[in-house]
Amino acid sequence: MRILAIESSCDETAAAVVEDGRKIISNIVFSQVDMHALYGGVVPEIASRKHVEVIDQVVQHALRDAGCSLSEIDAVAATAGPGLIGALLVGLNYAKSLAFASDKVFIPVHHIRGHIASNYLTHPDLEPPFICLTASGGHTMIVHVRDYTEMEVIGISRDDAAGECFDKISRVLGLGYPGGPAIDNAQAGGDDKKYPLPIAKVTDHAYDLSFSGVKTAAINTIHHAEQTGEKLDIPSFAASLCRAVSDALVPRVLEACRQYCLKKLAVCGGVSANSTIRSDLQKAAKEEGLSIYFPDMKLCSDNAAMIGSQAYYEYLAGKRGSTGQNAISNLDISEDISRIDE
Ligand code: KG4
Ligand code: ZN
Repeated sequence: MRILAIESSCDETAAAVVEDGRKIISNIVFSQVDMHALYGGVVPEIASRKHVEVIDQVVQHALRDAGCSLSEIDAVAATAGPGLIGALLVGLNYAKSLAFASDKVFIPVHHIRGHIASNYLTHPDLEPPFICLTASGGHTMIVHVRDYTEMEVIGISRDDAAGECFDKISRVLGLGYPGGPAIDNAQAGGDDKKYPLPIAKVTDHAYDLSFSGVKTAAINTIHHAEQTGEKLDIPSFAASLCRAVSDALVPRVLEACRQYCLKKLAVCGGVSANSTIRSDLQKAAKEEGLSIYFPDMKLCSDNAAMIGSQAYYEYLAGKRGSTGQNAISNLDISEDISRIDE
């Protein structure tokens, strides 16, 4: 089954053709990152307008790269949420119009479920159940993936997402947007113990997280250095920040695997590209005897291939979107997004 999938929840306009949920036939991502970098973060109105401008070209490009015409596509899928509402509506309405005009099935997809599915594209052997750490610019959560369309958030950041923390600190440091890759690249040769930052502690819940304390402490350190004329050692500061975020995430994820008696651990979302988090999790998984799964680097950040993968499993579970399918800016991962109607 060939699915044409569209993703436009934030600042990437993306389209892909995916076969049977596991094979990428084409995968086109138009990133608006340079436009938003001018403002130090995503400007929702600019994101929506740019999606409108390029979506048709991006979809045509994906079909052309796949070497297939619309008649060879079995279903059309799109991210329906969570995300920026104006941005979501562009991809969702385009996909709905295309599906209904060409008499094809339409499948709405939950963006975070899509991120989890990025691992199915990278690892043909991966099947639920497993624990998945999902860390992106908007969300940081630990998910118990019981089945392809049955999942539950068992731990969540009570304040900032890990990616947001990197983005905000990078802006104050003057390293630009997006902050995660900038900080990750800046840490080369740094000493991760030079600037000890507080490791988030949520004492009343085993898997919940918090990143606002790390963010505030890091920003205070930068301002303090500016006020006293101290020259910040950027590689060590970046390494210390990556260390603090990783030390907040890793023990909780491992504890979740132990408590749920699961030997498979997957990671996804933009922050899963972080080199410290990757190597810490790899080391810990080896010690604990866990199989660990990371998406291919190009599938860590937003793309439509992951939406096409999850759409296939939603289709198998009988999920279909109607012409009334609406977008939603926030929805728990356990909810059925195909029931969000106008
Ligand atoms: O999943 P994603 O592309 O978009 C959302 O759904 O939010 O994640 C983007 C986030 C940004 O906050 C970005 O700074 C972060 O992922 N990110 C990283 C790295 N690469 C991207 N964070 C830490 N280290 C990285 N190497
Ligand atoms: Zn995302």
